[in-house]
Amino acid sequence: MSKHELMKKLEEKILTCKKCPLWRLRTNPVPGYGNYDAKIMFIGEAPGYWEDQKGLPFVGKAGKVLDELLDGIGLTREDVYITNVVKCRPPNNRDPTEEEIKACSPYLDQQIDIIKPKVIVTLGRHSTNYILKKFGFDLEPISKIHGKVFKAKTLFGTLYIFPTYHPAVALYRPQLKEELKQDFDILKSLLEKLGI
Ligand code: URA
Repeated sequence: MSKHELMKKLEEKILTCKKCPLWRLRTNPVPGYGNYDAKIMFIGEAPGYWEDQKGLPFVGKAGKVLDELLDGIGLTREDVYITNVVKCRPPNNRDPTEEEIKACSPYLDQQIDIIKPKVIVTLGRHSTNYILKKFGFDLEPISKIHGKVFKAKTLFGTLYIFPTYHPAVALYRPQLKEELKQDFDILKSLLEKLGI
C-alpha cells in the first residue's frame, strides 16, 4: 500500500475512534494535516475549540502563531505534516490525561511509521515528553531542552527530535515568543544542514 493509502486508512479509523471517553464530547476528531511525504513533522498537544469545529490542527490563535513561525523559516503547511498527541478535544482545553494519551498515541506512532520523518518538532511539554520517552530519552523540563537537538536511531534511519515551546505561549508570554522564534532559527539551520 502507498503512504497515501496507509494514511487515508488510518485517518478513517481516527474519524470513528471510540477508544477513550473524549469521543462523546468531540465535534470532529483531528487526525492531522499536511504532506504525507514531509521530512518534518510538527506535533502539538490536542485540538482546541476551533480545531474541534473544523477537524483540522492548529487553526485557532496558536495556529496563527505556528503559521508565522513556519513562514519565518520559509515553510508552509503543505511542506510539513502537523498533528497532535491526542486527536480529540479535551473539555475546556484541559491537559490530556495519561489514559487519553495512552489510548490515542498508537495513532501518532502509526503516523510516524508511515511518514518516516527526518525531523520531529515537538510543540510543548506533552508532545515533547511523549516523543522523548518513546525514543528512549530522559525527560527534562521544556524550559531546559527547547531548541536542542536529540538524535535517535530508528528502524527508518536517524531521526532528529527538536523540542520547542507550544505556540500558544506566545499569546500570553512575549519573552517566550522571542525564544520560539530563536528556536525556529536553530531549526532552520538544522534543516539546511540535513539538506531538507
Ligand atoms: N493546540 C494544540 O496543541 N494543537 C492544536 O491542534 C491546536 C492547539
